[in-house]
Amino acid sequence: MEQARAVQATAPLEQRVDAVQSLLEARGLPASQAVEELRHKAEEEWVPRNGARVVAKAWSDPGFKQRLLADGRAAVTELGLSMPKHHRHLVVLENTAQVQNVICCTLCSCTAFTIIGLPPDWYKDLEYRARVVRESRTVLRDICLNHPAATEIRVWDTTADTRYMVLPEQPPHTVGWPEEKLAGIVTRDAMIGVARL
Ligand SMILES: [Fe+2]
Repeated sequence: MEQARAVQATAPLEQRVDAVQSLLEARGLPASQAVEELRHKAEEEWVPRNGARVVAKAWSDPGFKQRLLADGRAAVTELGLSMPKHHRHLVVLENTAQVQNVICCTLCSCTAFTIIGLPPDWYKDLEYRARVVRESRTVLRDICLNHPAATEIRVWDTTADTRYMVLPEQPPHTVGWPEEKLAGIVTRDAMIGVARL
């Protein structure tokens, strides 16, 4: 019995997924279709490119930036983007030469994933989640090579209904670029706040 339990616990992931899928399908629930839809969303729709467009627009259009900082959830709809119902707020945090905002989820892995993309593995790592709060300056120094030491660091802990996004500081040499080109330099890490552009 113990041995059987141990074998079950270590079954390869694919085998476990197949087992769950067969059980669902045996009960008339179309699991493979749902999995395919989710895969499509994760790979094609919930991508950092969305947030990059938002950032580029904010850099180019002061009125949009103002609306974005006031109510992120409403502002992103102007670009045809949306958030799940339970992401009730999108709080956009503006990085400046003096302030670096960093987002995390100390409980699990929450992000505004329809806007900035799904969280990378390191964001979900237990050690990162603990250290970014306790010793944020050291963590930033380790992963953000051009992080200026004098910057004030603000760490924001995501909750189920309040999601964050960092508005990175625009590199001076890109002022006047078209939005499309600006979006091309905005990275997921910059929107999490662990990189400066
Ligand atoms: Fe979470």
